[in-house]
Amino acid sequence: MCGIVGYSGIRQAVPILIDSLKRLEYRGYDSAGIAVFNESNVEVYKDKGKIVDLEKTLPNIPGNVGIGHTRWATHGRPNKINAHPHTSGNISVVHNGIIENYQQLREKLIRSGYQFSSETDTEALAHLINNYYKNDLVDAVILALNDIKGSYAIAVLCGNELVAARKDSPLVIGIGENENFIASDIPAILKYTRKMIFLDDMEIAYVAPDKVSFFDTGKKPIEKTMKLIEWDLEAAEKSGYEHFMLKEIHEQPKALHETFAGRISELEGTIAFDGLNLKEEQVKDINRISIIACGTSYNAGLLGKYLFEQLAGIHVDVEIASEFRYSHSSPGSLVIGISQSGETADTLAALREAKTFGGRSLAITNIMGSTITRDADSCIYMRSGPEIGVAATKTFMSQLGVLYLLALYFGKGKGKISSDRMKRMLVSLRKVPAQITRILSNKELIKKYAGIYSSSSDIFFIGRTLNYPIALEGALKLKEISYIHAEGYAAGELKHGPLALITKNTPVIAIATKGLTYDKMVNNIKEVKAREAPVIAIADEKDSEIEKYVDAVIRVPATDDILSPMLSTVVVQLLSYYTAKARNCPIDQPRNLAKSVTVE
Ligand code: F6R
Repeated sequence: MCGIVGYSGIRQAVPILIDSLKRLEYRGYDSAGIAVFNESNVEVYKDKGKIVDLEKTLPNIPGNVGIGHTRWATHGRPNKINAHPHTSGNISVVHNGIIENYQQLREKLIRSGYQFSSETDTEALAHLINNYYKNDLVDAVILALNDIKGSYAIAVLCGNELVAARKDSPLVIGIGENENFIASDIPAILKYTRKMIFLDDMEIAYVAPDKVSFFDTGKKPIEKTMKLIEWDLEAAEKSGYEHFMLKEIHEQPKALHETFAGRISELEGTIAFDGLNLKEEQVKDINRISIIACGTSYNAGLLGKYLFEQLAGIHVDVEIASEFRYSHSSPGSLVIGISQSGETADTLAALREAKTFGGRSLAITNIMGSTITRDADSCIYMRSGPEIGVAATKTFMSQLGVLYLLALYFGKGKGKISSDRMKRMLVSLRKVPAQITRILSNKELIKKYAGIYSSSSDIFFIGRTLNYPIALEGALKLKEISYIHAEGYAAGELKHGPLALITKNTPVIAIATKGLTYDKMVNNIKEVKAREAPVIAIADEKDSEIEKYVDAVIRVPATDDILSPMLSTVVVQLLSYYTAKARNCPIDQPRNLAKSVTVE
């Protein structure tokens, strides 16, 4: 999730590249770089830090063609060497996405005599294109892309020639007068042109000042349609969505795809983590895990508990970080700290406390180089991309993605999961991003129900077992952005007190996907219906029974029971979002809250 820009035209390239990169910085980045053809050769400048810092170091570089990049680290730390562009001979490359087979490519290229200086996957791509280059840049890019597994948006500079290509990562070509642009995001170049051509997957663009030619991967020319973008800059930053939260809810299929990228092999039934220094055999010795986190990350951790217990047979305690510090009880032999920001003071303090008992520690975070990555013994990155809305959405989804993979990995290490079950689970997991897309396409119905109940003063979310953490997350999301009092409850617990609060004015969102406790959940629904509460059920699309007991049903695609919490999550997020919108709340910046909580 980085930013790409490119320019070929009659003006000086550097000021345009720098200005365009600055327009991508609102998403938060850690290093930047440019490559410019200076009329005889290509000059590359890059560094860690902000674009203004890079700008200060730049000499006057004449030249009308160039590429630029702002990096948000996924492979390798944020530093100067890992910053893009990456070069090989006359080839310079900027890249967004993840090359899943870069390790194999790297080894092959080293055998052919290439030397690597960075820890990135992108450097392999630069060498690969150089390896194939025989005076035709489009040919070389096509041949290199044929060898690549993974996702990419790239811009490649060779002399004064500029080529762009994409797969599963956005890229747009801006059309000007005697100048053309490349950008990963519209806001980067909106100041220069409103005429845009969107590249589709497996398409290549050759960008010259007076013409852009498009090809498929067989080098067959393609006709593309130009679109006129009417958004203002603010709308463009949100890709046309009204709020970052809604944009980020829609980015979940991609976020999850990136979380899984390069880590899953369905064919072999294996999972591999880059940052985890715990081999499958070592997992055998772990009999108790403690998960430490706050807020939404705590809710993810609670689902993690069910997953580790069901899939790996390992007992898990989930601790609210601000409480754990004072509990004086010894944690499990593995402590997992979950924090999207990696800077939450309560989680950091609790993790440090837990480490004093010995044992291993593992961080799950979205931010490379954050404090938690330095405190923990090992680290798994969520790869959600930058999240701007204060309410966590896509980072929650990626946390769940990592926890599913981790629980399966432990299940295999413990001998609790057969190879067949593992393969089936991985195939089902891979389908989840597309299933989320289907739920998103049904959002009008969710919006309608949110509108009906948006004037309520209390709303309950209920679920059992795996759906209980999602009930907690639904209630947390709703209260933080809509300011409605909301409770997340284990449905079986209602009768032990909270049922006293249920009336015809207390809507209940019942997460009732199929699974072990479905029949019991139906009983709990009957209990609240008997108190006249309006009930909306979140249920499988194949469940024809549920509508007999509830006022409304929101359907999610049928999947392996254990995976359905990821799908129900999207529904509770959208319900919360549209409720807050109906109440005119400042959704991206709810009162009294901050994105990263660095005080205890
Ligand atoms: C809710 C939310 C917070 C965070 C919590 C922990 O939408 O975002 O509850 O989940 O402050 O933050 P991290 O994950 O950064 O440790």
